[in-house]
Amino acid sequence: MSELLEVNNLTMNFKGLKAVSDFSVKLKENMIYGLIGTNGAGKTTVINMLSGVLKPSSGTVFFNGENITGLRPDKIAKKGILRTYQNLRLFKKASALQNVIIGAQMHKSYNNIEAIFDLSRFRNEEKELEASAMAMLRILGIENYAKERADSLPYGAQRKLEIARILAASPRILLLDEPAAGMNPQESVELVRMIKHIQEEFKLTILLIEHDMKVVMGLCEFIYVMATGQIIAQGEPQVVRDDPKVIEAYLGRTRKDV
Ligand SMILES: Nc1ncnc2c1ncn2[C@@H]1O[C@H](COP(=O)(O)OP(=O)(O)OP(=O)(O)O)[C@@H](O)[C@H]1O
Ligand SMILES: [Mg+2]
Repeated sequence: MSELLEVNNLTMNFKGLKAVSDFSVKLKENMIYGLIGTNGAGKTTVINMLSGVLKPSSGTVFFNGENITGLRPDKIAKKGILRTYQNLRLFKKASALQNVIIGAQMHKSYNNIEAIFDLSRFRNEEKELEASAMAMLRILGIENYAKERADSLPYGAQRKLEIARILAASPRILLLDEPAAGMNPQESVELVRMIKHIQEEFKLTILLIEHDMKVVMGLCEFIYVMATGQIIAQGEPQVVRDDPKVIEAYLGRTRKDV
C-alpha cells in the first residue's frame, strides 16, 4: 500500500460548531505536505484528531493500513505519529538534553523491572540514549544549549528543541503545528533548511501547518487549503497559490497571510 496515512471524512463537532467536516487526505511516505488556511479554519483540530488528542466525531484514520481512529495519544505516538504544539510544550525546568531523552524513552527497549536485574544493560542503554539525544541536538544545531534549562533557551531554539524531542522517538510521521510561529525571518529560513534536512535524513512524512507562506512554499510538495472546516483546494504549491478560491479565502480575512 503506497499511502502511509489515509484519512477519510474526518469530522469534529464541538457542541453545534463543526470545526472540521469531511476532511479526507492521503499522505504518501517521504513527502512534505502543507496544511494552510486562515485563523480558525480547523487546522489544529485536524492535528488534534490525527494525534489522538481529540476523538473524531466521525470518519476514519488508517496508518499503514491499520485503523487507528480514536486511539489514545500515547498509542498513536508509539506507532510513530508524533506532533508538536502551536504553543510550545517543553519540560521547562529540565535541560534541553533531558527533554530529548524523555522523548527518546518512549521507545526504550528495556522496562524498569529488567533494569533492576540487568544494570549493565541499563547503563549501556542510558549512555546510548544520552549520546543519541546529543546527536539529535546537533542535527538541530542547538547542541550548545544541551545543559541549559529548556525555558532559558532563545525562542527559536525552544521551537527546534520541540522538534528534536519528537524526532528522538523515531517517528514515521511528523505533524508540525506552526513551527515557525514567533520566529524572525532569518530563523524561519534556517528552520526550512533544517526541516528539509531532517525529512531527508530520516525519510519522514511531514504534515506542516504554517501561516508563513515563504516557509510553506519553500518546503511543501503538496498543499491542502482549509476554510471553515473544509478542504477548499489542494495541489502543488504554484497551483494552490493561484487558485481563486484560495485567494478569496485569504483576502476575505487578512491580507498579510497570503
Ligand atoms: N476544544 C474546543 N472546543 C470548542 N471549540 C473549539 C475547540 N478547539 C477548537 N475550537 C474551534 O474550532 C474552530 C477551529 O479551530 P482550530 O484551532 O482548529 O483552527 P486553526 O485553523 O488551527 O486556527 P489558527 O490558525 O488560529 O491556529 C475554531 O472556531 C475554534 O474556536
Ligand atoms: Mg491552530
